[in-house]
Amino acid sequence: MSAVNERLAELAELGRHENGIDRALGTPQERAARERFAAWARARNYALTQDRVGNLFARRAGTREGARPILVGSHLDTVPTGGAYDGAYGVVAAICALEALDERNAATEHPVDAVAWVGEEGGRFLLGCLGSSVFTGAHDVERALSLQDSEGVTLRDALASPEGGLLDGVPMREEMRVAAYVELHVEQGPVLEREAVPLGVVTAIAGQRRYRVVIDGTSGHAGTVPMARRGDALCAAAELILAVERAAIVAGESVATVGRLVVEPNGTNVIPARTTFSVDIRSPHDDRIEAVEKALREAATEAQARRRVNTSVERLESRAPAPMDPKLRATLHKAVAALDLKAIDVPSGAGHDAMCLSRIAPTAMLFVPSIGGRSHVAEEETSPEDLETGVTALVASIIEVDKFVI
Ligand code: GLV
Ligand code: MN
Ligand code: MN
Repeated sequence: MSAVNERLAELAELGRHENGIDRALGTPQERAARERFAAWARARNYALTQDRVGNLFARRAGTREGARPILVGSHLDTVPTGGAYDGAYGVVAAICALEALDERNAATEHPVDAVAWVGEEGGRFLLGCLGSSVFTGAHDVERALSLQDSEGVTLRDALASPEGGLLDGVPMREEMRVAAYVELHVEQGPVLEREAVPLGVVTAIAGQRRYRVVIDGTSGHAGTVPMARRGDALCAAAELILAVERAAIVAGESVATVGRLVVEPNGTNVIPARTTFSVDIRSPHDDRIEAVEKALREAATEAQARRRVNTSVERLESRAPAPMDPKLRATLHKAVAALDLKAIDVPSGAGHDAMCLSRIAPTAMLFVPSIGGRSHVAEEETSPEDLETGVTALVASIIEVDKFVI
Protein backbone atom coordinates (compact mmCIF):
# COMPACT_ATOMS: atom_id res chain seq x y z
CA MET A 1 0.00 0.00 0.00
CA SER A 2 1.27 3.48 -0.78
CA ALA A 3 1.97 5.94 2.03
CA VAL A 4 -1.14 8.01 1.32
CA ASN A 5 -3.43 4.97 1.49
CA GLU A 6 -1.67 3.54 4.52
CA ARG A 7 -1.93 6.76 6.48
CA LEU A 8 -5.57 7.28 5.56
CA ALA A 9 -6.29 3.78 6.83
CA GLU A 10 -4.45 4.65 10.04
CA LEU A 11 -6.46 7.85 10.56
CA ALA A 12 -9.71 6.01 9.76
CA GLU A 13 -9.23 3.95 12.94
CA LEU A 14 -9.36 7.12 15.07
CA GLY A 15 -12.98 7.65 16.05
CA ARG A 16 -14.25 4.65 14.12
CA HIS A 17 -17.44 2.98 15.36
CA GLU A 18 -20.07 0.78 13.78
CA ASN A 19 -21.78 3.62 11.90
CA GLY A 20 -18.77 5.58 10.66
CA ILE A 21 -16.09 7.89 12.03
CA ASP A 22 -16.65 10.60 14.68
CA ARG A 23 -13.78 13.03 15.05
CA ALA A 24 -15.14 16.33 16.30
CA LEU A 25 -12.79 19.15 17.28
CA GLY A 26 -11.35 18.88 20.77
CA THR A 27 -12.23 15.20 21.32
CA PRO A 28 -9.61 12.55 22.15
CA GLN A 29 -10.09 11.01 18.68
CA GLU A 30 -9.49 14.29 16.89
CA ARG A 31 -6.50 15.08 19.07
CA ALA A 32 -5.10 11.65 18.25
CA ALA A 33 -5.32 12.55 14.55
CA ARG A 34 -3.39 15.76 15.22
CA GLU A 35 -0.82 13.66 17.09
CA ARG A 36 -0.43 11.41 14.05
CA PHE A 37 0.16 14.43 11.85
CA ALA A 38 2.75 15.73 14.32
CA ALA A 39 4.52 12.35 14.36
CA TRP A 40 4.75 12.29 10.54
CA ALA A 41 6.15 15.82 10.54
CA ARG A 42 8.69 15.09 13.28
CA ALA A 43 9.87 11.93 11.52
CA ARG A 44 11.04 14.14 8.63
CA ASN A 45 12.22 17.05 10.76
CA TYR A 46 9.68 19.44 9.32
CA ALA A 47 9.39 22.47 11.60
CA LEU A 48 6.14 21.87 13.45
CA THR A 49 4.07 24.67 14.96
CA GLN A 50 0.49 25.10 16.17
CA ASP A 51 -1.69 28.10 16.91
CA ARG A 52 -4.13 28.93 19.70
CA VAL A 53 -7.02 27.02 18.15
CA GLY A 54 -4.91 23.95 17.30
CA ASN A 55 -4.18 24.41 13.59
CA LEU A 56 -0.93 22.56 12.81
CA PHE A 57 1.78 23.59 10.35
CA ALA A 58 4.66 21.34 9.22
CA ARG A 59 7.21 23.37 7.29
CA ARG A 60 9.66 22.20 4.65
CA ALA A 61 12.19 24.99 4.29
CA GLY A 62 12.56 27.04 1.11
CA THR A 63 15.73 28.44 -0.41
CA ARG A 64 14.87 32.14 -0.70
CA GLU A 65 15.40 34.20 2.41
CA GLY A 66 12.16 35.83 3.55
CA ALA A 67 9.93 34.11 0.99
CA ARG A 68 6.36 33.59 2.21
CA PRO A 69 5.20 30.00 2.58
CA ILE A 70 2.97 28.10 0.17
CA LEU A 71 0.32 26.39 2.31
CA VAL A 72 -1.05 23.00 1.33
CA GLY A 73 -3.60 21.16 3.45
CA SER A 74 -7.12 20.45 4.61
CA HIS A 75 -8.81 19.28 7.84
CA LEU A 76 -8.72 16.27 10.18
CA ASP A 77 -12.16 16.53 11.81
CA THR A 78 -15.19 14.66 10.47
CA VAL A 79 -18.95 15.05 10.46
CA PRO A 80 -20.81 12.67 12.81
CA THR A 81 -20.69 9.17 11.26
CA GLY A 82 -18.39 10.54 8.58
CA GLY A 83 -16.01 8.82 6.20
CA ALA A 84 -12.27 8.40 5.86
CA TYR A 85 -11.48 10.87 3.06
CA ASP A 86 -13.22 14.21 3.53
CA GLY A 87 -10.45 16.45 4.82
CA ALA A 88 -8.09 13.72 6.01
CA TYR A 89 -7.06 13.06 2.42
CA GLY A 90 -5.85 16.63 1.83
CA VAL A 91 -3.83 16.62 5.07
CA VAL A 92 -2.20 13.26 4.47
CA ALA A 93 -1.54 14.18 0.83
CA ALA A 94 0.15 17.40 1.94
CA ILE A 95 2.61 15.50 4.16
CA CYS A 96 3.19 12.94 1.39
CA ALA A 97 3.85 15.79 -1.05
CA LEU A 98 6.53 17.29 1.20
CA GLU A 99 8.16 13.86 1.44
CA ALA A 100 8.01 13.47 -2.34
CA LEU A 101 9.81 16.80 -2.72
CA ASP A 102 12.49 15.50 -0.32
CA GLU A 103 12.85 12.28 -2.25
CA ARG A 104 13.37 14.18 -5.49
CA ASN A 105 15.74 16.60 -3.81
CA ALA A 106 13.49 19.30 -5.20
CA ALA A 107 14.35 22.65 -3.71
CA THR A 108 11.58 25.25 -3.65
CA GLU A 109 12.15 28.96 -3.24
CA HIS A 110 9.21 29.23 -0.89
CA PRO A 111 8.85 27.24 2.29
CA VAL A 112 6.01 24.75 1.89
CA ASP A 113 3.75 24.12 4.89
CA ALA A 114 1.54 21.05 5.18
CA VAL A 115 -1.41 22.31 7.22
CA ALA A 116 -4.04 20.51 9.29
CA TRP A 117 -6.87 22.99 9.88
CA VAL A 118 -9.10 22.31 12.88
CA GLY A 119 -12.88 22.25 13.07
CA GLU A 120 -13.75 22.58 9.39
CA GLU A 121 -17.05 20.73 9.68
CA GLY A 122 -18.49 22.94 12.38
CA GLY A 123 -20.25 20.04 14.06
CA ARG A 124 -19.34 20.53 17.69
CA PHE A 125 -18.87 24.31 17.96
CA LEU A 126 -21.25 25.12 15.07
CA LEU A 127 -18.86 27.53 13.33
CA GLY A 128 -17.63 25.87 10.13
CA CYS A 129 -14.04 26.36 8.87
CA LEU A 130 -13.21 27.38 12.42
CA GLY A 131 -9.43 27.01 12.25
CA SER A 132 -9.02 28.66 8.87
CA SER A 133 -11.47 31.43 9.82
CA VAL A 134 -9.32 32.34 12.80
CA PHE A 135 -6.08 32.00 10.83
CA THR A 136 -7.32 34.38 8.11
CA GLY A 137 -8.83 36.88 10.53
CA ALA A 138 -12.41 36.23 9.43
CA HIS A 139 -13.15 35.36 13.07
CA ASP A 140 -11.62 36.78 16.18
CA VAL A 141 -9.66 34.17 18.13
CA GLU A 142 -11.16 35.14 21.50
CA ARG A 143 -14.66 34.87 20.07
CA ALA A 144 -13.86 31.47 18.62
CA LEU A 145 -12.43 30.26 21.95
CA SER A 146 -15.63 31.35 23.69
CA LEU A 147 -17.87 29.21 21.46
CA GLN A 148 -19.73 26.52 23.39
CA ASP A 149 -20.74 23.02 22.40
CA SER A 150 -24.19 21.61 23.20
CA GLU A 151 -23.00 20.66 26.71
CA GLY A 152 -21.77 24.18 27.45
CA VAL A 153 -18.06 23.29 27.12
CA THR A 154 -16.12 26.17 25.57
CA LEU A 155 -13.54 25.66 22.86
CA ARG A 156 -11.07 27.31 25.25
CA ASP A 157 -11.68 24.55 27.84
CA ALA A 158 -11.68 21.78 25.24
CA LEU A 159 -8.30 22.97 23.95
CA ALA A 160 -6.91 23.23 27.48
CA SER A 161 -7.87 19.67 28.37
CA PRO A 162 -5.28 16.88 28.16
CA GLU A 163 -7.77 14.63 26.31
CA GLY A 164 -8.70 16.90 23.42
CA GLY A 165 -6.40 19.88 23.76
CA LEU A 166 -3.44 21.50 22.08
CA LEU A 167 -0.44 19.24 21.51
CA ASP A 168 2.31 19.14 24.12
CA GLY A 169 5.73 20.45 23.18
CA VAL A 170 4.67 22.02 19.88
CA PRO A 171 5.69 25.70 19.68
CA MET A 172 3.20 28.43 18.84
CA ARG A 173 3.29 29.65 15.27
CA GLU A 174 4.74 33.06 14.49
CA GLU A 175 2.78 35.54 12.37
CA MET A 176 2.90 34.53 8.73
CA ARG A 177 1.90 35.97 5.40
CA VAL A 178 0.94 33.42 2.81
CA ALA A 179 2.20 33.21 -0.80
CA ALA A 180 -0.53 30.81 -1.97
CA TYR A 181 -2.84 28.05 -0.75
CA VAL A 182 -3.57 24.78 -2.53
CA GLU A 183 -6.07 22.25 -1.14
CA LEU A 184 -6.51 18.73 -2.45
CA HIS A 185 -9.86 17.15 -1.57
CA VAL A 186 -12.23 14.40 -2.64
CA GLU A 187 -14.90 15.82 -4.92
CA GLN A 188 -17.86 14.71 -2.74
CA GLY A 189 -20.04 14.85 -5.86
CA PRO A 190 -20.57 12.84 -9.04
CA VAL A 191 -19.02 14.91 -11.84
CA LEU A 192 -15.49 13.49 -12.10
CA GLU A 193 -16.68 9.90 -11.93
CA ARG A 194 -19.33 10.56 -14.55
CA GLU A 195 -16.84 12.26 -16.85
CA ALA A 196 -14.26 9.53 -16.15
CA VAL A 197 -11.45 12.00 -15.40
CA PRO A 198 -9.04 11.59 -12.49
CA LEU A 199 -8.77 15.26 -11.51
CA GLY A 200 -10.81 18.42 -11.19
CA VAL A 201 -9.63 22.02 -10.82
CA VAL A 202 -12.19 23.93 -8.78
CA THR A 203 -13.65 27.06 -10.35
CA ALA A 204 -15.47 28.46 -7.30
CA ILE A 205 -16.88 27.34 -3.95
CA ALA A 206 -20.58 27.97 -3.32
CA GLY A 207 -21.53 30.54 -0.72
CA GLN A 208 -23.17 29.32 2.46
CA ARG A 209 -25.04 30.52 5.49
CA ARG A 210 -25.85 28.63 8.67
CA TYR A 211 -28.54 29.39 11.22
CA ARG A 212 -29.84 28.22 14.57
CA VAL A 213 -33.63 28.37 14.83
CA VAL A 214 -35.35 28.06 18.20
CA ILE A 215 -39.13 27.68 18.53
CA ASP A 216 -40.72 27.95 21.94
CA GLY A 217 -44.24 26.62 22.29
CA THR A 218 -46.33 25.38 25.16
CA SER A 219 -45.96 21.89 26.51
CA GLY A 220 -48.95 19.91 27.69
CA HIS A 221 -50.74 16.57 27.84
CA ALA A 222 -50.97 14.83 24.45
CA GLY A 223 -54.40 13.49 25.31
CA THR A 224 -56.14 16.50 26.84
CA VAL A 225 -55.16 19.74 25.08
CA PRO A 226 -57.55 20.37 22.14
CA MET A 227 -55.85 20.90 18.78
CA ALA A 228 -57.14 24.45 18.47
CA ARG A 229 -55.45 25.49 21.73
CA ARG A 230 -51.98 24.09 21.14
CA GLY A 231 -48.67 25.85 20.70
CA ASP A 232 -46.81 22.83 19.39
CA ALA A 233 -43.15 23.69 18.79
CA LEU A 234 -42.54 20.70 16.54
CA CYS A 235 -45.50 21.33 14.23
CA ALA A 236 -44.28 24.90 13.82
CA ALA A 237 -40.76 23.62 13.06
CA ALA A 238 -42.18 21.28 10.43
CA GLU A 239 -43.75 24.24 8.64
CA LEU A 240 -40.50 26.21 8.68
CA ILE A 241 -38.47 23.26 7.45
CA LEU A 242 -40.77 22.66 4.50
CA ALA A 243 -40.86 26.39 3.73
CA VAL A 244 -37.05 26.40 3.49
CA GLU A 245 -37.09 23.34 1.24
CA ARG A 246 -39.64 24.97 -1.06
CA ALA A 247 -37.74 28.26 -1.14
CA ALA A 248 -34.52 26.55 -2.24
CA ILE A 249 -36.37 24.74 -5.04
CA VAL A 250 -38.04 27.95 -6.18
CA ALA A 251 -34.79 29.98 -6.01
CA GLY A 252 -33.00 27.40 -8.17
CA GLU A 253 -29.27 26.62 -8.11
CA SER A 254 -29.47 26.53 -4.35
CA VAL A 255 -29.73 23.85 -1.69
CA ALA A 256 -31.03 24.01 1.86
CA THR A 257 -30.70 21.42 4.61
CA VAL A 258 -32.04 20.97 8.12
CA GLY A 259 -29.64 18.36 9.43
CA ARG A 260 -30.03 18.72 13.15
CA LEU A 261 -33.26 18.90 15.14
CA VAL A 262 -33.65 18.71 18.90
CA VAL A 263 -37.13 18.29 20.38
CA GLU A 264 -37.78 18.99 24.05
CA PRO A 265 -38.87 17.29 26.17
CA ASN A 266 -39.04 14.57 23.48
CA GLY A 267 -41.75 12.43 25.07
CA THR A 268 -44.27 10.39 23.11
CA ASN A 269 -47.22 11.75 25.06
CA VAL A 270 -46.02 15.31 25.70
CA ILE A 271 -46.68 18.23 23.35
CA PRO A 272 -43.25 19.52 22.25
CA ALA A 273 -42.28 22.63 24.23
CA ARG A 274 -39.22 23.62 22.29
CA THR A 275 -37.48 22.73 19.06
CA THR A 276 -34.00 23.82 18.08
CA PHE A 277 -32.75 23.13 14.59
CA SER A 278 -30.00 24.03 12.15
CA VAL A 279 -30.50 25.47 8.68
CA ASP A 280 -27.74 25.34 6.07
CA ILE A 281 -28.31 27.24 2.80
CA ARG A 282 -25.89 27.21 -0.13
CA SER A 283 -25.67 28.59 -3.65
CA PRO A 284 -23.10 29.96 -6.06
CA HIS A 285 -25.31 33.10 -6.11
CA ASP A 286 -25.55 35.24 -2.99
CA ASP A 287 -28.94 36.69 -3.99
CA ARG A 288 -30.49 33.20 -4.01
CA ILE A 289 -29.15 32.46 -0.54
CA GLU A 290 -30.69 35.78 0.48
CA ALA A 291 -34.04 34.76 -1.04
CA VAL A 292 -34.09 31.48 0.91
CA GLU A 293 -33.16 33.29 4.13
CA LYS A 294 -35.99 35.74 3.52
CA ALA A 295 -38.44 32.85 3.10
CA LEU A 296 -37.19 31.29 6.35
CA ARG A 297 -37.68 34.53 8.27
CA GLU A 298 -41.13 35.10 6.76
CA ALA A 299 -42.22 31.57 7.62
CA ALA A 300 -40.98 32.11 11.19
CA THR A 301 -42.92 35.37 11.56
CA GLU A 302 -46.01 33.81 10.07
CA ALA A 303 -45.86 30.68 12.28
CA GLN A 304 -45.36 32.84 15.35
CA ALA A 305 -48.54 34.78 14.68
CA ARG A 306 -50.68 31.75 13.82
CA ARG A 307 -49.37 28.98 16.06
CA ARG A 308 -48.90 30.54 19.52
CA VAL A 309 -45.15 30.04 19.48
CA ASN A 310 -42.09 32.27 19.73
CA THR A 311 -39.48 31.90 17.04
CA SER A 312 -35.90 33.09 16.81
CA VAL A 313 -33.72 32.79 13.73
CA GLU A 314 -30.04 33.42 14.43
CA ARG A 315 -27.55 33.56 11.59
CA LEU A 316 -24.35 31.92 12.84
CA GLU A 317 -22.22 32.03 9.75
CA SER A 318 -22.23 33.69 6.35
CA ARG A 319 -19.73 33.07 3.60
CA ALA A 320 -19.89 34.63 0.18
CA PRO A 321 -19.27 32.43 -2.87
CA ALA A 322 -15.49 32.08 -3.23
CA PRO A 323 -14.04 32.09 -6.74
CA MET A 324 -10.65 30.40 -6.97
CA ASP A 325 -7.70 32.44 -8.28
CA PRO A 326 -7.72 32.29 -12.12
CA LYS A 327 -3.92 32.37 -12.46
CA LEU A 328 -3.43 29.69 -9.85
CA ARG A 329 -6.10 27.55 -11.51
CA ALA A 330 -4.23 27.88 -14.81
CA THR A 331 -1.02 26.90 -13.01
CA LEU A 332 -2.65 23.75 -11.66
CA HIS A 333 -3.99 22.87 -15.11
CA LYS A 334 -0.51 23.35 -16.55
CA ALA A 335 1.08 21.14 -13.89
CA VAL A 336 -1.48 18.39 -14.44
CA ALA A 337 -1.24 18.54 -18.23
CA ALA A 338 2.55 18.17 -18.01
CA LEU A 339 1.95 14.86 -16.20
CA ASP A 340 -0.26 13.74 -19.10
CA LEU A 341 -3.24 13.58 -16.77
CA LYS A 342 -6.67 14.86 -17.63
CA ALA A 343 -8.36 17.51 -15.48
CA ILE A 344 -11.62 19.38 -15.95
CA ASP A 345 -13.01 22.49 -14.28
CA VAL A 346 -15.59 21.74 -11.58
CA PRO A 347 -17.51 23.91 -9.12
CA SER A 348 -17.64 22.97 -5.43
CA GLY A 349 -20.99 22.77 -3.68
CA ALA A 350 -19.23 21.71 -0.47
CA GLY A 351 -17.47 24.23 1.75
CA HIS A 352 -13.71 24.11 2.29
CA ASP A 353 -10.99 25.89 4.22
CA ALA A 354 -9.97 27.26 0.82
CA MET A 355 -12.96 29.65 1.11
CA CYS A 356 -11.23 31.39 3.99
CA LEU A 357 -7.74 31.27 2.55
CA SER A 358 -8.99 32.84 -0.70
CA ARG A 359 -9.57 36.04 1.29
CA ILE A 360 -5.88 36.47 2.03
CA ALA A 361 -3.89 34.68 -0.69
CA PRO A 362 -4.17 33.25 -4.21
CA THR A 363 -6.02 29.98 -3.63
CA ALA A 364 -6.88 26.95 -5.74
CA MET A 365 -8.20 23.43 -5.22
CA LEU A 366 -7.77 20.05 -6.84
CA PHE A 367 -10.43 17.34 -6.63
CA VAL A 368 -10.19 13.58 -7.11
CA PRO A 369 -13.30 11.47 -7.86
CA SER A 370 -15.67 10.23 -5.16
CA ILE A 371 -17.17 6.82 -5.86
CA GLY A 372 -20.91 7.25 -6.43
CA GLY A 373 -20.42 10.93 -5.61
CA ARG A 374 -21.05 10.09 -1.96
CA SER A 375 -19.66 12.01 1.02
CA HIS A 376 -20.48 12.98 4.62
CA VAL A 377 -21.38 9.30 5.00
CA ALA A 378 -19.37 6.34 6.27
CA GLU A 379 -19.40 4.81 2.78
CA GLU A 380 -17.55 7.68 1.08
CA GLU A 381 -14.73 6.25 -0.98
CA THR A 382 -12.09 7.09 -3.56
CA SER A 383 -10.03 4.44 -5.32
CA PRO A 384 -6.44 3.99 -4.06
CA GLU A 385 -5.17 4.80 -7.57
CA ASP A 386 -7.08 8.09 -7.71
CA LEU A 387 -5.77 9.00 -4.26
CA GLU A 388 -2.20 8.44 -5.48
CA THR A 389 -2.83 10.39 -8.68
CA GLY A 390 -4.01 13.31 -6.57
CA VAL A 391 -0.76 13.33 -4.60
CA THR A 392 1.27 13.23 -7.83
CA ALA A 393 -0.74 16.17 -9.16
CA LEU A 394 -0.30 18.04 -5.87
CA VAL A 395 3.49 17.66 -5.96
CA ALA A 396 3.63 18.91 -9.55
CA SER A 397 1.30 21.78 -8.63
CA ILE A 398 3.49 22.87 -5.71
CA ILE A 399 6.54 22.97 -8.00
CA GLU A 400 4.66 25.09 -10.58
CA VAL A 401 3.11 27.37 -7.97
CA ASP A 402 6.55 27.95 -6.45
CA LYS A 403 7.69 29.38 -9.80
CA PHE A 404 4.59 31.49 -10.27
CA VAL A 405 3.88 33.22 -6.95
CA ILE A 406 5.95 35.91 -5.27
C1 GLV B 1 -18.16 20.90 4.84
O1 GLV B 1 -17.85 19.82 4.41
C2 GLV B 1 -19.33 21.52 4.37
O2 GLV B 1 -19.46 21.70 3.14
O3 GLV B 1 -20.21 21.79 5.19
MN1 MN C 1 -13.83 18.69 3.75
MN1 MN D 1 -17.05 17.87 5.04
